[in-house]
Amino acid sequence: MFSDTLLARLKKAYTVVVLTGAGISAASGVPTFRGENGLWKKFRPEKLANFYTFSQNPELVWEWYQWRRELIYKVKPNLAHYALVDFENIFPEFCLITQNIDNLHQEAGNKKIIELHGNIMRNKCSSCGKPYEGDFDLKNGIPKCSDCGELIRPDVVWFGEFLPQEAIQKAQEMAMASEVFFSIGTSAVVEPAASLPYIAKGNGAYIVEINIEKTPLTSSADEFLQGAADKILPELVIEINKLR
Ligand code: OAD
Repeated sequence: MFSDTLLARLKKAYTVVVLTGAGISAASGVPTFRGENGLWKKFRPEKLANFYTFSQNPELVWEWYQWRRELIYKVKPNLAHYALVDFENIFPEFCLITQNIDNLHQEAGNKKIIELHGNIMRNKCSSCGKPYEGDFDLKNGIPKCSDCGELIRPDVVWFGEFLPQEAIQKAQEMAMASEVFFSIGTSAVVEPAASLPYIAKGNGAYIVEINIEKTPLTSSADEFLQGAADKILPELVIEINKLR
């Protein structure tokens, strides 16, 4: 299933970088955004996940995020998440770049994570950015920032917003440094994350894509492993352990 070239690359690799998207959490029961059962189809999140809607109807936006938060509280990391914890232990230099906001990589035990789109479990002030922890009851209204009095919002990136500067910069640096770069469970269409594999490739990395279906990245990948991440990644870890 895995080519000799990939195994040889992984055998000598010092720096391995992984980019993940919603597909890695599919086996945990978190809906993806696009595709057959995608969240986007049912909820048109582009209408909800933006600052304009929040400014007009913060209750509605919060209700949607509380619903997703509750869904995520009920789920657990799957074998794909745990395989990436093994990756972190195996490779001397490792970095996990995720577009996911579901906190499942953290829960599985990865430490070297760059969150490109924030984290649904955290909150921040919508004006000054002061961080706030925990849940609150919407019946009591949306809490306000103790410093500036503006509304508190989920600490996630919305449509039309910039990614956290430090996160994307570090992600680009790691992509450049990678010897093997994995793109896992992402439709590879949302920028700037979608450019990371090309940055890696341009700097000599071997690009491996794991997805149940082809994406715009597939033709540029050195290896396309078609199938579910929770099946392929544990098998790959077994093969890597035989090499090292
Ligand atoms: P998408 O929903 O766009 O894509 C999920 C990808 O996972 C698809 O290519 C599926 O084929 C694949 N997939 C599904 N199940 C899988 C499995 N079991 N194993 C492997 N692959 C599987 O999700 P993302 O690419 O993460 O941004 O979307 C990127 C961004 O779009 C999100 O972070 C979100 C959204 O706008 C923000 O909210 C800012």
